[in-house]
Amino acid sequence: MAKSDEVFLSGRGVTKVYGFGDKKTVAVNKVDFDFHKGEIISIVGESGSGKTTLAKMLLGLHSVTSGEIYYNGKLRDIRSTRKKRAYWKGIQAIFQDPFSSFNVFNRIDTLLLDCINMRGQKDLPYDKKVELMTEACSFVNLKFAELTKKYPFELSGGQMQRLMIARIFLLKPQILIADEPTSMIDACSRATILDMLLKLREEINMTIIFITHDIGLAYYVSDSVYIMEHGVFVEKGTADDVILHPKADYTKRLINDVPKIYEEWDLSTV
Ligand SMILES: Nc1ncnc2c1ncn2[C@@H]1O[C@H](COP(=O)(O)OP(=O)(O)O)[C@@H](O)[C@H]1O
Ligand SMILES: [Mg+2]
Repeated sequence: MAKSDEVFLSGRGVTKVYGFGDKKTVAVNKVDFDFHKGEIISIVGESGSGKTTLAKMLLGLHSVTSGEIYYNGKLRDIRSTRKKRAYWKGIQAIFQDPFSSFNVFNRIDTLLLDCINMRGQKDLPYDKKVELMTEACSFVNLKFAELTKKYPFELSGGQMQRLMIARIFLLKPQILIADEPTSMIDACSRATILDMLLKLREEINMTIIFITHDIGLAYYVSDSVYIMEHGVFVEKGTADDVILHPKADYTKRLINDVPKIYEEWDLSTV
């Protein structure tokens, strides 16, 4: 799906302060954003810049200290459990550490069944549910029949992250927040995870908010880029504008830090 002009999720003056007094940390400081339907948005910044805090506020897992978040053109209201559940039908996340995202004592089939139930398909016959789970697993090259009785700790990080994508395949949210989904897994699984996320976006027309410290990766995947430093957006715009024509010193530094592979090769030995 191409980017549309429709603003889907936006924020005005969104702020998060942790702690108080001497221990106060302003993790996100009065940020404004407008995410459009169908876009891939990257939020790029170094560790500690406030990316995960913003993701958690967008998801409603952390409260907002001040500012407003608008969803589908209306001020977001997730004050009751029922409203929060309804909101989570539309917005879901994949985190850096797939093992931290849910109860590790639940078996894989329980994890996937929960997604089906959450979609309001609780009353489907069991064999129909197995069909859906099998389809979701095969989308990420996993075999449901081999996984069904396993526990998360019996899977590798890469397999687990693929299972998280299978979960999104079942939930079909309108917005997916992917918070450094490839940074804790081995290099060879990394490209696969990224490809699967992009394939999933084609499949279910999602908006993706992709959080990364890797500006090269952001350029590769996104339409819009927001650069975050110390809790504020120092620069935002299209991926081409921000990365090919950076204005902020911080953005320039991030670009300079991308390893230049050719410089590292010793051509004299070729
Ligand atoms: N639960 C928390 N309590 C107190 N401080 C926190 C908490 N989570 C994050 N922080 C602080 O907020 C700042 C931003 O952290 P975070 O959002 O995790 O950044 P990033 O995801 O960009 O690495 C950091 O200074 C971090 O130490
Ligand atoms: Mg983080």
